[in-house]
Amino acid sequence: MTDLDSLRKTLLDEIETAQNLDDLEQLRVAVLGKKGQITKRMKGLGALEPEARRNQGAALNTLKEEISRAITERGRVLGDSALNARLLQERFDMTLPPRPETEGRIHPISQTLGELLQIFGAMGFAVAEGPDVEDDFHNFAALNIPPEHPARQMHDTFYFPPDASGERRLLRTHTSPVQIRTMRAAKPPIRIVAPGRTYRRDSDITHTPMFHQIEGLLIDRGTHMGHLKGCLFDFCRAFFELDEVPLRFRPSFFPFTEPSAEVDIGCAREKDTIRVGAGADWLEILGCGMVHPKVLEHCGIDSSVYQGFAFGLGVERVAMLKYGIPDLRTFFEADLRWLRHYGFLPLDVPTLTGGLS
Ligand code: PHE
Repeated sequence: MTDLDSLRKTLLDEIETAQNLDDLEQLRVAVLGKKGQITKRMKGLGALEPEARRNQGAALNTLKEEISRAITERGRVLGDSALNARLLQERFDMTLPPRPETEGRIHPISQTLGELLQIFGAMGFAVAEGPDVEDDFHNFAALNIPPEHPARQMHDTFYFPPDASGERRLLRTHTSPVQIRTMRAAKPPIRIVAPGRTYRRDSDITHTPMFHQIEGLLIDRGTHMGHLKGCLFDFCRAFFELDEVPLRFRPSFFPFTEPSAEVDIGCAREKDTIRVGAGADWLEILGCGMVHPKVLEHCGIDSSVYQGFAFGLGVERVAMLKYGIPDLRTFFEADLRWLRHYGFLPLDVPTLTGGLS
């Protein structure tokens, strides 16, 4: 047996018996690396006679190829079994509950917004958004509330200092500016809800300077009050998870709707608690109406072809009603004990099929 034959045999043996990828890599370096056994022999070729050099060179090349192939092949086998071993070891039971139990809770506002979007989403409303910092045009003028209109006083607006041009930006007092932004950007039919933060200079047991509304807007041909009523009845039944919900549409006034109504929900007040669905009392939950033709015209929509309805609902209001939370201000006190009591488990995502709450 020549020297190369015995080297070949030894190397193939070692490759075959390498037990892991590290050993195999060491072996590869020792044979094919810069100072490896085969590399060294190749470097030695220069010292040979031309004839011997050619023969020895060819033999070394063949050997080198064979050994690299064997190493690659063995590497694949070892790699597979290393992966299998890891997969076996890392196997875990996905059906086990998470441990330790999570401490975090979903805030009732987030939960309620999730429920509202589930319901309106199923009715075909898309979600639209607008900025918290608004200008006069979107928050007032385009909504048919010109300067000096008495309705501006009702809004207790937070204003920013005037800019160079004298314009005062403001914190939006309602989500209705999203109506304007949506109608100016899209052509009817339009069907959106716009959830978000709203701000008014107001603070007592039933008011906080920041609160949430969800705006609804539907614009199409032939839309009428009946559609608005049906939509709100369906919504209330789904949200309060009751078959029958007493609702009262009370004539009201908003500059941007005509006719306008406020909607009260029937409830029973007992000392500190309010129960929805039965009883002799009424509680206002939202304002609504048919979009005023002037508002449509401000947005470039032909009011002789299209009509629409809009509503604005107080998110804290309905959350308090549904979950029996007596004081509005507690929502924003960031009290962990309150959150542990009224909060929701993060994995209980509200869905119409799986249950909203
Ligand atoms: N934007 C009104 C408010 O905040 C509510 C409303 C919205 C009324 C849409 C009618 C239509 O009081």
